[in-house]
Amino acid sequence: MKASVKLDKSYRISKIDRRIYGSFIEHMGRAVYGGIYEPGHPSADEDGFRKDVLELVAKLNVPIVRYPGGNFVSGYDWTDGIGPKELRPKRLDLAWQTTETNQVGLNEFCKWAKKANTDVMMAVNLGTKGIEDAQNIVEYCNSKTDTKFANLRRAHGFEEPHNIKVWCLGNEMDGSWQTGAKTAHEYARIAHEAGKAMKWVDDSIELVACGSSSYYMPTFGEWEAAVLDEGYETIDYMSLHQYYGNAENDTPSFIAESIALDGFISTVVSICDYIKGKHHSKKNVNVSLDEWNVWYHSNEQDKKLEKWMTARPLLEDVYNFEDALLVGCMLMVMMRHADRLKMACLAQLVNVIAPIMTETGGRAWAQTIYYPFMHAAKYGVGDAMHIITDSPKHDTKKYTDVPYLETMVTYNEEKSEMTIFAVNRSEDEEIIAEYDMRDFEGYTVDEHIQMAGHGAKDVNTADDPYNVIPETVTGTTELDGGKLTAKLPAFSWNVIRLSK
Ligand code: AHR
Repeated sequence: MKASVKLDKSYRISKIDRRIYGSFIEHMGRAVYGGIYEPGHPSADEDGFRKDVLELVAKLNVPIVRYPGGNFVSGYDWTDGIGPKELRPKRLDLAWQTTETNQVGLNEFCKWAKKANTDVMMAVNLGTKGIEDAQNIVEYCNSKTDTKFANLRRAHGFEEPHNIKVWCLGNEMDGSWQTGAKTAHEYARIAHEAGKAMKWVDDSIELVACGSSSYYMPTFGEWEAAVLDEGYETIDYMSLHQYYGNAENDTPSFIAESIALDGFISTVVSICDYIKGKHHSKKNVNVSLDEWNVWYHSNEQDKKLEKWMTARPLLEDVYNFEDALLVGCMLMVMMRHADRLKMACLAQLVNVIAPIMTETGGRAWAQTIYYPFMHAAKYGVGDAMHIITDSPKHDTKKYTDVPYLETMVTYNEEKSEMTIFAVNRSEDEEIIAEYDMRDFEGYTVDEHIQMAGHGAKDVNTADDPYNVIPETVTGTTELDGGKLTAKLPAFSWNVIRLSK
């Protein structure tokens, strides 16, 4: 089948904020213990961080990592995780029915983030804690003052502040599963008041308010409006979370879920703008998709795990090839919303619904979803282009008019580079896609990276870590007379890199 794409140098959506390629480490499962941190592991460094994991993280180019939760944060006392390790208490973590040893806390995580060349997005506990606790943690992390919590940080060996810029006001406070879940009104009040105090400690920080835990929450829409109505001038970003699954084994609908994500983001942006208008405000509240991914493979196995173990191996989804294609489609949707989507966190980074897997004491490897994420973070930079795609469409059980071709173009003017991302959703037919390149005279194709020829359920494992990996293909593109013709095989992820 054939598809065509129109693009023009001056039709741009916005510069892409690289923070849309963020990720997430929660104190849960084996994300921290046995994931990023494992003293005694053959690859552990002097701080107990696994270097094999750090290497895989470095290749992903992650600009920001959310921490320490997630549901975990809503019952967390951050002061348990600071100071001498031998004095730190073990605690019940109600969110994940786990014993938390507190051997890693915020100082260790900030150290890890430096080694991983990434920033920290810190979440505060607005479940069981409140304003004072939120204010104190900002002082501990960011203040240079001669006051209690800044001095405590110094006493713990960190003379210089961590300077954490992005702070989440709690996590999924609309969900009954959250310790200290709240009504929209209750949350709106505490988020606003805690946010005010946090900004009074450090007015350079940016605040992310909890939006809905998913598009399908019964309070979706009204929740966001109520929270913004209360704290519009305090809040900088409204969050949204979304996971998809294919429990029904309906692949065509599954890889079309990015269409729902597109609508979800647009609706949250509209709600932000509705409240902006209502308040006659000059400021824009932007959006942060601070949890997103595929999550369903591990649901059954998790029910069998023993409670109160440390580092219970929770949410260890093994990702397959169709998951990688959906992740690729979701990333393109995010680029398309570059004007208002300023942050996003692939949830999560290591072992817990993650692109990187480890064996405790053993190997580390990349899952299928690692690759589209890595490509987007590396090459999806510069401006997101406003393209017009004409693709054959089909209906699935869940969605109508699903284009077979999902594509996006980014343009890095400074470096004279551009990247075409494309997924062919058809399971059996190649797409010949024509990109109108008349406005990009002198550009030539540097590389066509592809993931194709795999079964939908193919996976990578510790024993077979390179089963589903990208390759550079040749003879698949032709650039002639201002037209780039690309062969996109059935069921494939494609990255076509051009430069002048
Ligand atoms: O990422 C796993 C969990 O999903 C997070 O703890 C929570 O915020 C969401 O429900």
